[in-house]
Amino acid sequence: MSNKLEQKKDLDWASLGFEYVKTDFRFTASYENGVWSEGELITSEQMTVHEGAPALHYSQQCFEGLKAQTTKDGRVLLFRPDLNAQRLQDTADRLLMPQVPTELFLRGVEEAVRANYSWIPPYGSGAALYIRPFLIGVGDNLGLRPAKKYEFRVFVSPVGPYYKGEGLSIISLAVTDVDRAAPKGTGHVKAGSNYAGGLLATHKAKELGANEALYLDAAERIYLEEAGSANILLKMTGGRFVTPKSDAILPSVTRRSIMTIAKQELDLEIEERPVNFLKELPEIEEMAACGTAAVLSPVGKVWVNDQWTLFYGEGEKVGPTMQKLYDLLTQLQKGEREDIYGWTKEVVMD
Ligand code: PLP
Ligand code: COI
Repeated sequence: MSNKLEQKKDLDWASLGFEYVKTDFRFTASYENGVWSEGELITSEQMTVHEGAPALHYSQQCFEGLKAQTTKDGRVLLFRPDLNAQRLQDTADRLLMPQVPTELFLRGVEEAVRANYSWIPPYGSGAALYIRPFLIGVGDNLGLRPAKKYEFRVFVSPVGPYYKGEGLSIISLAVTDVDRAAPKGTGHVKAGSNYAGGLLATHKAKELGANEALYLDAAERIYLEEAGSANILLKMTGGRFVTPKSDAILPSVTRRSIMTIAKQELDLEIEERPVNFLKELPEIEEMAACGTAAVLSPVGKVWVNDQWTLFYGEGEKVGPTMQKLYDLLTQLQKGEREDIYGWTKEVVMD
């Protein structure tokens, strides 16, 4: 492994933020006449698309996000990539795009990771390799109808924490008056258009000094949905561990994993159900946002009804339950403990 380590880029891994870093290779495959090409690695980070492409005009595009992490003994692990493949297929169905077969998705991810070995942050650096698979409708198409051609691409970028700060940084959220997703809309899939619509909410949240927007349901503005880039976890009084249930939120891989860990390893009573935010606010002991980029980020305070509501330790300390869950999740993702769930997948290097 020693000569492999010498192949690593000379980056200051510990000070990386969540920014695009150009790596050497990306994977691309194209779809035309009902058939996917084999796919290949290419070097250019640029894409040429037709000016009439539906991805540009009608947002016929979607994406995924997952990470590769290095273990202490130098192996490289993905976390539940099969769930990302499935979610991209669910998104493609909703946007009338062709599904990327699971085999092609996993091969694209693994090839992009393997080819960029030197960019995968080393164990203990606090950084990870973020993987961004995406699918776009290309080719000319003026009228409002699905594209005839598609491109599936996977690029990777070494990243640090999504929210700035050392290790487990405590974040703040601001309840927004902007809606992200309507019932029966596209909130449950990873369509890029969801994020364009959310930029204003994030902007307003940042103006209030919060890291990110927190959405309530668009129909009644009562029930908690999710943050702009993460699902929500709540430790309630009486040991209940709750996550909002809604047809308009993204089914987070991280959240589904944490709920399982909370039940199986912390013996918490887990509930996935609608959460009446204002009514249940006094019962919330600890709150966190979770996702691939956010990992598990404890929420210290929330802006709601023109004031800050503070959670555990008045927003300065991480609550004990969230700290334990963060440790259990990240130890698993970095291969620091036995993978009792079979969730990690090693990318075997050549
Ligand atoms: N919710 C939204 C809106 C997201 O963008 C993300 C990030 O992917 C998540 C939740 C978390 O999902 P996951 O844990 O699968 O990354
Ligand atoms: C992720 O966590 O992978 C996401 O896609 C969120 C994105 C807004 C950075």
